[in-house]
Amino acid sequence: SIEAENDLSMTFRCDVKLKLIVVREGFSVAKRIETKACAADLVTEFDQRVEEILITKLKEKFPSHKFIGEESAAGGAKQPLTDDPTWIIDPIDGTTNFVHGFPFIAISVGLVIKKQAEIGVIYNPISENLYSAVKGKGAFKNGRPIQSSQQTELGLSQVSGEYGSSRDPQILQTKSENLRKIVERAHSVRAIGSAALNLCHVAEGSCDAYFEYGIHCWDIAAGDLIAREAGCFTSDPTGDPLDIMKRQILCTATKQLAMQLIPLLTHVDF
Ligand code: IPD
Repeated sequence: SIEAENDLSMTFRCDVKLKLIVVREGFSVAKRIETKACAADLVTEFDQRVEEILITKLKEKFPSHKFIGEESAAGGAKQPLTDDPTWIIDPIDGTTNFVHGFPFIAISVGLVIKKQAEIGVIYNPISENLYSAVKGKGAFKNGRPIQSSQQTELGLSQVSGEYGSSRDPQILQTKSENLRKIVERAHSVRAIGSAALNLCHVAEGSCDAYFEYGIHCWDIAAGDLIAREAGCFTSDPTGDPLDIMKRQILCTATKQLAMQLIPLLTHVDF
């Protein structure tokens, strides 16, 4: 596991091709944008190219492993999560940020075996911050250990939440109401547009909590492990155990903080 994580981290840091594609060719130029599930669910050719490169490289090393990738799913590939070793990939988490040149974007890769996360690596090629974790071995940012803030009080917390890409009026109303209830009680609410980086921010202690309805497994597979290895509590927003296939997550610096957030949330079904 540790060797695979090292390999992956090195690939992200040193793979000139990935950096050239995402940062130089992609980030600051006008892009050809397409939409997926709805008008605010964007994809660019860069998402597809990065996913292709990652899957090709990982397949060379692990030919028997399975893959779940955001853009392969959008292309119609059936990708159920089984007990087999499975790499779960978001080639560009924060595609809308990428399209607009807002620098919160991340490549997110998680390895799940028997439905348990074993490795998580999240790389922001703009800031060059690399977050990583191997199950049971702690969480790291650029090789240095990170830890959650240990915050237990919602009143002292900075909380991340997102509107996501659904424009269904009922869903938007519930999400707005959830965020309003939290901002009334907390220090602040933030929405940076990347689930993977939101989880890393709770892991490193710059945010105290993050929740979202409507995400996919590729947005959170790596970040959930990094957050837990940094001492965070992750669960379903109802308080049930987290199921990464269920499209919702709550991640807090401490379990006490989760217990204050859970009763405030009106749940949204996707
Ligand atoms: C999106 C981002 C965003 C979240 C959306 C995700 P994508 O991922 O993580 O923060 O609000 O729900 O779909 O589409 O940019 O990979």
